Amino acid sequence: MQKKLVVLTGAGMSAESGIATFRDSGGLWDQYPVEQVATPEGFEADPELVLNFYNMRRRELLKAKPNEGHIGLVGLESHFDVTIITQNIDNLHEQAGSKKVLHLHGELMKARSTGDESLIYDIDPQQCDIRLGDLCGKGFQLRPHIVWFGEAVPMIQEAEEITRRADIFVIIGTSMNVYPAAGLLQDVRKNVPVYLIDPKDVFTSRYDIHHIQKKASEGVRELKKMLFRNSY
Ligand code: OAD
Repeated sequence: MQKKLVVLTGAGMSAESGIATFRDSGGLWDQYPVEQVATPEGFEADPELVLNFYNMRRRELLKAKPNEGHIGLVGLESHFDVTIITQNIDNLHEQAGSKKVLHLHGELMKARSTGDESLIYDIDPQQCDIRLGDLCGKGFQLRPHIVWFGEAVPMIQEAEEITRRADIFVIIGTSMNVYPAAGLLQDVRKNVPVYLIDPKDVFTSRYDIHHIQKKASEGVRELKKMLFRNSY
C-alpha cells in the first residue's frame, strides 16, 4: 500500500506563480488592512471594498499558472497517496492536476450566499467579478466563498483526520501564523518525518523538522530526492 503523504501549503506555494503572499514585506496585509478586507465586520462596513479586493485577487489568479512546485507535487502521486491541505484560495493545485486538495480557507473561484451558506456557486471565469446586487437563488447578496478572520473553519476537522493518518508530512510556503491551520502540526504523529520548504526560517513547535531552505519549485525537487533517498 502507498504511504500517505500530506502536504500543508500556504501563500509561498503560489508566489512563483506571481500571486502575492500576505506577511512578507510588501505582502497583501501591508497594502490592505486585514480587518477591512478579510473580516465579516469589514464586509458589513463596506461590502463593495471587500468584493473589489477579491475581484482583484480573482483577476490576478486568472492570469496565473501553476509553477514547478505545484507540478512537482502532482509527480509524487505515482509514489505516494498524496493529499494537499491548502490555506490558499487559488486553484493552482487543481490546475496542476493534484487529485486530492482540501481548501481550509475557501476558494476564490466560488461565491456563496450571505443568507444561506449551503448555496455555493462556481464563478464563471468570463464573468469573474462578484458585484453588489449579484444575488443567490433565494435573493441574498453573494459574497466570496472565503473563510474570513473570526469565522469558523468548516474543513478543519477533516484536515485534522487526514493529518493524523499521515506517514510523511510536508509544509510548504506558510509562515505558520494562522490558526487553526498552523495547529495541524500538532496532529502529526511523533514518529512521522516532517519536511518544511520555505526560503525563510519558520517558527514551529517541532524541533525535528527537515528544513529545505528554498523556494517551492526548487524545494519540491529537493524533497523528491530526499524522499527517494530515504526510500519511504
Ligand atoms: P504568509 O504570507 O503568512 O507566509 C508566506 C510564507 O511563504 C512565508 O514563510 C515566506 O517565507 C514563504 N515564501 C515566500 N516565497 C516563497 C516561495 N517562492 N516558495 C516557498 N515559500 C515562500 O502566508 P500564509 O502562511 O499562507 O488567510 O498565510 C496564512 C493565511 O493568512 C492565509 O491563508 C490568509 C492569510 O491571512 C485568510 O485570508 C483567512
